[in-house]
Amino acid sequence: MNSETIREITILPGRNRSGETENFDEIVIRPGDTISIVGPTGSGKSAFINDIEIFAANDTVTRRTILINGEQPPEEYIRDPAKKPVALITQNTKCLADLKVREFLEMHIKSRGIIEAEIAGKTIDLANEFTGEKIRPDVKMTALSGGQTRSLMVADAIMISNTPLILLDEVENAGIFKDRVIETLKKYKKALIFVTHDPMVSLMSDRRIVMKDGAVHKVLEPNGSEKKALEKVIELDRIMYRMREQIRAGEMMCDRAFT
Ligand SMILES: Nc1ncnc2c1ncn2[C@@H]1O[C@H](COP(=O)(O)OP(=O)(O)O)[C@@H](O)[C@H]1O
Ligand SMILES: [Mg+2]
Repeated sequence: MNSETIREITILPGRNRSGETENFDEIVIRPGDTISIVGPTGSGKSAFINDIEIFAANDTVTRRTILINGEQPPEEYIRDPAKKPVALITQNTKCLADLKVREFLEMHIKSRGIIEAEIAGKTIDLANEFTGEKIRPDVKMTALSGGQTRSLMVADAIMISNTPLILLDEVENAGIFKDRVIETLKKYKKALIFVTHDPMVSLMSDRRIVMKDGAVHKVLEPNGSEKKALEKVIELDRIMYRMREQIRAGEMMCDRAFT
């Protein structure tokens, strides 16, 4: 089994902080699914996605179990970082290496044993679809802005790590085109789970998992009932983006920003 053959990831319930069993039978994630995790600080959001990242087997504080295609995942998924079908991106995902963007990507490409030509260039091109500030291959990783770094990490997870599941834990999304990221992940048939309270990202996802006291409290499946709210938030997001760009460019706010 390799990461291309992952048809579904199943989460079996664990228990909350008081030891009570979680309120669901199973949560199944398939390629192309987008799920957001919401709930107050300390409610267990990070613990939930960490369980997935490490393929918990009733051996974490939450006692959840993660299955791949209905079975306990093979050892190599857990031990071998190159075979791991999950990429976790957090606010602390930083690139300490003093490398240029192209060098950083090439190092990662080599460690993954990929031979496809020009994949570094394709990764940068994809990242540049996610951000308005273009990333150049010869710039130092440490010189990238927050938005550029986040765009590059997502593009890297899609093109180079090529994991079927991408997890994002409270990654701030200023400076990236969130809707484009989500559309691209769907296009590449990646599943995406993010911890976020951003209304646009939450409303764009198919399911919303609400956490409470260390457990899944409920799973919301809006099925189109939040369409109006989503349209509104996309419109507001466009306005905010244009205003930010005008401020950045040193312009005065004129009516143009609001239309
Ligand atoms: N089901 C649980 N049982 C016991 N402890 C838990 C459970 N879920 C989470 N925790 C612990 O509670 C703390 C807060 O959880 P965390 O996932 O970091 O919350 P959040 O990301 O929502 O702020 C962590 O120390 C975590 O290990
Ligand atoms: Mg957290």
